[in-house]
Amino acid sequence: MTHRQPAIAPSEITPRAVFEQRRALLRQAGLLGAGMATGGLLLPGTARANLAPRPSALSTTEARTPHKDVTTYNNFYEFGTGKDDPAERAGTLKPRPWTVMVEGECAKPRRWDVDELLKLAALEERVYRMRCVEGWSMVIPWVGYPLSELIRRAEPTAKARYVEFTTLLDPKQMPGQRAAVLEWPYVEGLRMDEAMHPLAILCLGLYGELLPNQNGAPVRMVVPWKYGFKSAKSIVRIRFTEAEPRTAWNKAIPGEYGFYSNVNPNVDHPRWSQRRERRIGEFGKRDTLMFNGYAEQVASLYAGMDLRKFF
Ligand code: MTE
Repeated sequence: MTHRQPAIAPSEITPRAVFEQRRALLRQAGLLGAGMATGGLLLPGTARANLAPRPSALSTTEARTPHKDVTTYNNFYEFGTGKDDPAERAGTLKPRPWTVMVEGECAKPRRWDVDELLKLAALEERVYRMRCVEGWSMVIPWVGYPLSELIRRAEPTAKARYVEFTTLLDPKQMPGQRAAVLEWPYVEGLRMDEAMHPLAILCLGLYGELLPNQNGAPVRMVVPWKYGFKSAKSIVRIRFTEAEPRTAWNKAIPGEYGFYSNVNPNVDHPRWSQRRERRIGEFGKRDTLMFNGYAEQVASLYAGMDLRKFF
């Protein structure tokens, strides 16, 4: 080409204030620079990232719980114990910059930046039934990939029998940690074969976007055949251990919350039945399914185990 093409700066198309505010939001969300390489499209005029996950055969076709309910009816005790506390208060959490240390019984411990985790494997949409121990359920289109993708890169040793997940400890960002409702930081764990199961995902988004703070930004676990509290939010450390991890709810009330916590309509919570559940947005109740409806995929993990003893 012999003559010059006029270079049009984005600032000439978009009013300057809007443009600058948008850049600031994108920088905050980690979507400028390296983050752009995630294959994400940016919707014009917003800071929402379209993560463009590919659909998964492991998704349920059941009706999705509305985005509004998924993001305003939450359990995240680091921001208070009320269901609407996380949506109202989680603005103090800063999901960028953020790293996750992968360590313990493995040949290749490593600190991962969350933007590296976004690119580690192909993002999938996993629409999962989620069942809270309190008796309600939702159907949520998560975005993530199998945790096994991260685990195998760490090369766990033969001693690695469990995986422990630890949430951020920072009362400035998580004011609920000033109250002694649980022992902080929140800790959860899985047996190695559970953590390697294709249904267990490292989750970075929902409804096609980056995770909202109240849902555990920037990275959390999602383990759909277990009660919701096994899915730790806002994770900063993943550790391979020989001994069973001491988990937050088990430490707080060991008689009510066991290590396994598989969804099981046949084992009552000591204070209430687990037979039925209320799907958020529906009237009436429906039957709770063994392993939350994922028995075909996961029952073999527990062959020969007494699920009343290992609740
Ligand atoms: N993770 C942390 N760090 N803190 C919590 O209080 N609550 C658990 C789980 N993960 C919790 C957590 C419980 S009880 C549930 S039901 C789910 O998160 C709720 O996830 P959601 O709000 O994204 O639906």
